Amino acid sequence: MLIPKLNSALAYGGDYNPEQWPESVWQEDVKLMREAGVNLVTLGVFSWGKLQPTEKHYDFGWLDRAMDLLAANEIFVDLATATASPPPWMSHRYPDVLAIDANGATFYPGSRQHYSPCSPTYRRLAATLVGRLADRYKKHPALAAWHINNEYGNHVAECHGPDATIAFRTWLQRRYGTLEALNSAWGTAFWSQWYSTWNEILTPRRTPTFANPTQQLDYKRFMSDAVLELFVMERDIVRAATPDVPVTTNYMGFHKPMNYRKWSVEMDFVSWDNYPDPLPGRGGAAAGAAGHDLVRSLKKDRPFLLMEQSISSVTWHAANGPKPPGVMRLWSWQALARGSDGVLFFQWRASKAGAEKFLGGMVSHIPAEKSRTFADVKALGAELKKLAPISGSRVRAQVAIAFDWEAWWAVELDSKPAPIAYATWAQEIHARFYAQNIAVDFVHPAEELTGYRLVIAPALYLLSETAAANLARFVEGGGHLLATYLSGIVDENEHVIVGGYPARLRALLGLWVEEWLVLGQGETDTIRYGKRGQPVVCTHWRDAIHTEGAEVLATFSKGIMAGRPAITRHRFGRGVAYYLGTKPGKAALADLLGKIGRAAGVSAVLQAPPGVEATLREHADARFLFVLNHNTRAVRLSLRNYSGCDLITGKQVTLTVELAAHGAMVVELTLKRNVGGPMHKPP
Ligand code: GLA
Repeated sequence: MLIPKLNSALAYGGDYNPEQWPESVWQEDVKLMREAGVNLVTLGVFSWGKLQPTEKHYDFGWLDRAMDLLAANEIFVDLATATASPPPWMSHRYPDVLAIDANGATFYPGSRQHYSPCSPTYRRLAATLVGRLADRYKKHPALAAWHINNEYGNHVAECHGPDATIAFRTWLQRRYGTLEALNSAWGTAFWSQWYSTWNEILTPRRTPTFANPTQQLDYKRFMSDAVLELFVMERDIVRAATPDVPVTTNYMGFHKPMNYRKWSVEMDFVSWDNYPDPLPGRGGAAAGAAGHDLVRSLKKDRPFLLMEQSISSVTWHAANGPKPPGVMRLWSWQALARGSDGVLFFQWRASKAGAEKFLGGMVSHIPAEKSRTFADVKALGAELKKLAPISGSRVRAQVAIAFDWEAWWAVELDSKPAPIAYATWAQEIHARFYAQNIAVDFVHPAEELTGYRLVIAPALYLLSETAAANLARFVEGGGHLLATYLSGIVDENEHVIVGGYPARLRALLGLWVEEWLVLGQGETDTIRYGKRGQPVVCTHWRDAIHTEGAEVLATFSKGIMAGRPAITRHRFGRGVAYYLGTKPGKAALADLLGKIGRAAGVSAVLQAPPGVEATLREHADARFLFVLNHNTRAVRLSLRNYSGCDLITGKQVTLTVELAAHGAMVVELTLKRNVGGPMHKPP
């Protein structure tokens, strides 16, 4: 159970900012919340200025009344620590709290998140506020979870001011111990960057040309750690006051600056904010699915929580269309289908002032009884009650994508043979499995891989010895691996492992790569499987591969690459390691992944028409099949071996079903036989 006080109900609600409204409006808020079936609100995320209008003066009266009102209406609170936007008095009095960018420019108050994560003054003042909140509300009946800060590192994920510089040096001293070790790790013999005292070291600021890559990489590690320290500081304060109340903060999915894998160890449960582009044809459903799968994989032993999504349009695209009718419901169901134990929105009531007043809310600017979106909110709330049996159940995947923040940071540093969009590449691969209804986790290459049949390693550029050995063990034991170009190139210091790429994967893949013949924008080559295979267009990259044990599955066609290996297969131990030395087009990639998946024994949850998403969630004693129709027309499909009870209609379903445009169903399966693979063993 993510939030014990919800008593196995799915969470439903959103950010609630009563401080923006006169208290007379609050009565209507709770009345409408009850109508909508809301059971959880994230309270007061940006209310620091109202809670502490001056340094010496606190005002908890309004929050007391809001908490009491919510408790009286049986609505629980995910209480925010309110530290995401320091009030103006703070920087006026203590300018050292302000963050400074790599060019030396200051971030000023007037929006939000302008604080330096490394400022001791910010930390002291935040800790004081959080201590007071924890102490005041620790026994409050509405308190069900703690929401620390908000979207850490969303706008400001770096600081280069004096506090950050000192903290960076301390972090480096802990990592390296001696300056000799640092100089060696940073390769400072290159371009005369040798440091003779710690005080010479700076954060990577504006430089004439490419800054030292290891310095940049360490700075990214440091900033992620520094911001995580803020979370841990606040978490420890609230945990001391309320050891039984779970603590989280809202992630942003594929958010590069924060190493969420490292962060997730510190969370009681993980939650995130999902804002894909809602317009048709923009890939919103696939993007949402990838984000859910990533976040779910960060804490695999429990569900996650969809902490925010928009009710309809947002305000940061060039043109902000609404979610087409049915899409808000469908995407809410998608979060559940992929492992969330609830659906929350930003925000409850649309603001009437401020920068996000046109962003929408569960209650919009028009009266609730006239609002199309509020009708949808009520309908969804009613459905979620019927879906409560899924709470606590989990999604099991046979396929994993190795996805590592450190590899992401390193491979996207400047000065590479061709730019690589690491997360995009991983998501493109994910999308091919998503389209086939094959569940995918995102894993660290060094984590336990037993249980997966297939692991894909897209551009796993930075690879430790431990991770490489783990991948080899996985294949040796019978697993299937597909590594792509630019994997296993550098060590943790971003130093090339010389002697032939991809050094640490060479024996496993049965090949080595001599050089890279990258393809520029608009340039293509073709690859061909065997002599008779149809040519398939490829872009971006071509590895000059020499096999040393691997068999060649496909070859390039053009220029000096003609006839040279593009895709290989190598039997290793009881498993198979494939290598992809280029980027095939969408259909060809799907075809390749399909072939490799079949060879690995990977099965789809359901064979369904295009645009129909199917997932399974499992308990020790129940299984749920979700089927979601993302098409704008109705579809008929066969449930094949599955049968059971539709949780919404309460009717038995079997064989063929019809799903309306944007329709969705969840079937509690009859456990008469072992369809789709073995059950998860109960913990
Ligand atoms: C983020 C933030 C919210 C709000 C929404 C909508 O998710 O957490 O405070 O700003 O975006 O823009």
